[in-house]
Amino acid sequence: MNVCVVGTGYVGLVSGVCFSDIGNKVTCIDLDQEKIDKLKQGIIPIYEPGLSDLVLKNINENRLSFSTDLTEGLKDADVVFIAVGTPPKENGEADLQYVEAVAKSIGEHLDSYKVIVTKSTVPVGTGKRVKEIIASVSGHTNFDIASNPEFLREGSAIYDTMNMERAVIGVESEKAGEVLTELHKPFNTNIVLTDVETAEMIKYASNAFLATKISFINEVANVCELVGADVTKVAEGMGFDNRIGKAFLQAGIGYGGSCFPKDTSALVQIAGKAGYDFKIVRNVEEVNQNQRFKIIDKLEAVFNNDLSGRKIAVLGLAFKPNTDDMRDAPSIDLVPLLQEKGADVFAFDPVAAENARKVIPGLNAVENLQKAVNNADAVVILTDWPEFKEMDLVQLKETINQPIIIDGRNMFEPETMKELGYYYSSIGRPL
Ligand code: UGA
Repeated sequence: MNVCVVGTGYVGLVSGVCFSDIGNKVTCIDLDQEKIDKLKQGIIPIYEPGLSDLVLKNINENRLSFSTDLTEGLKDADVVFIAVGTPPKENGEADLQYVEAVAKSIGEHLDSYKVIVTKSTVPVGTGKRVKEIIASVSGHTNFDIASNPEFLREGSAIYDTMNMERAVIGVESEKAGEVLTELHKPFNTNIVLTDVETAEMIKYASNAFLATKISFINEVANVCELVGADVTKVAEGMGFDNRIGKAFLQAGIGYGGSCFPKDTSALVQIAGKAGYDFKIVRNVEEVNQNQRFKIIDKLEAVFNNDLSGRKIAVLGLAFKPNTDDMRDAPSIDLVPLLQEKGADVFAFDPVAAENARKVIPGLNAVENLQKAVNNADAVVILTDWPEFKEMDLVQLKETINQPIIIDGRNMFEPETMKELGYYYSSIGRPL
């Protein structure tokens, strides 16, 4: 099939590349000329393992191209994906200006039947709005709209797309359903064929549910600390029950990123507008926001509530490992707070330092782990990068001033740390 993807952010770029890799001819469109020029050479604007190689492979095999010219992308396209950003507005609502602008441009250039699919995460009802916008400018050309939300995770985006557990396809016509089912056949996945509104809702409900799991286990962790239980074992014991599942029960300092915070807040807004108070999700957000600060409490407890002049090594700035994405990362709140409390912060992140500097004023990010931990009074772990797990803990103890580790991601075994002579405080586990 011929596919056009408008918007080369995370979702658009990964979807475009994967659709091309399974044999379609894909044109990715973006307004940003510099970005498009770089993409043509396989230089990608984000850190995502494997993505650059896959872009180059599909360019070389003539299935993937990039352009700033929408008409070029629309020419001969059977399916057009709208994958532009929907950033949150001040009040938590999704800002749809980019989606609407793209819908208008598509409508203006429509010259033959196409299925126009919203892939960006959009409030329920946006599909209908996109249809109205296109219809208002497209003349008599026939088209269908559809919703096909994305479930990929940053850091494992290609794997998640190539091995998708389901494709949610929301359509208004049988024809559009057939086209999109056909497009997804090579993924050999479960197809959930439904109406547009339901598909839009599935995306929000899925993300809000995952966020709920995280906040739930974080609250369980907080109780574990008070009653002397171990949250990792509690999660393991719960996870064997298939109805609960093992995934997303890792307690820590809460979720960040471009999706959960934005989507939970948007869902509360969507429900509110429809006259419903989505209490659980509101509380999930509140629990998540408070959870990040646990790390400061634990640190202050060690230093008698006085962090002034303490050298604190902060390991990890990104909201999770394998990404340089700083959107809503707990470090954005935590590093300035440590500094405000007088701590001398030396932070290290394997890839996110550059992006972190843009959002954390006065950040002292050093170029390697060693520089961060040298003579530190305490080490604070904010992101569970695999290289932190592989640290030589015996050598680390020699390098730091005091053997204190506050671990916001439960990366090590408390017993082992005790044997090694560390004061090791993690989340929801006995000291
Ligand atoms: C999330 C969803 O997992 C994807 O399915 C979805 O497609 C995507 O949002 C989106 O809407 O685009 P992502 O934000 O990339 O993906 O990251 P996750 O791997 O889900 O992690 C989110 C946050 O939750 C991270 O901060 C992570 O540290 C935290 N987390 C995750 C926990 O604290 N505990 C867990 O058990 C799992």
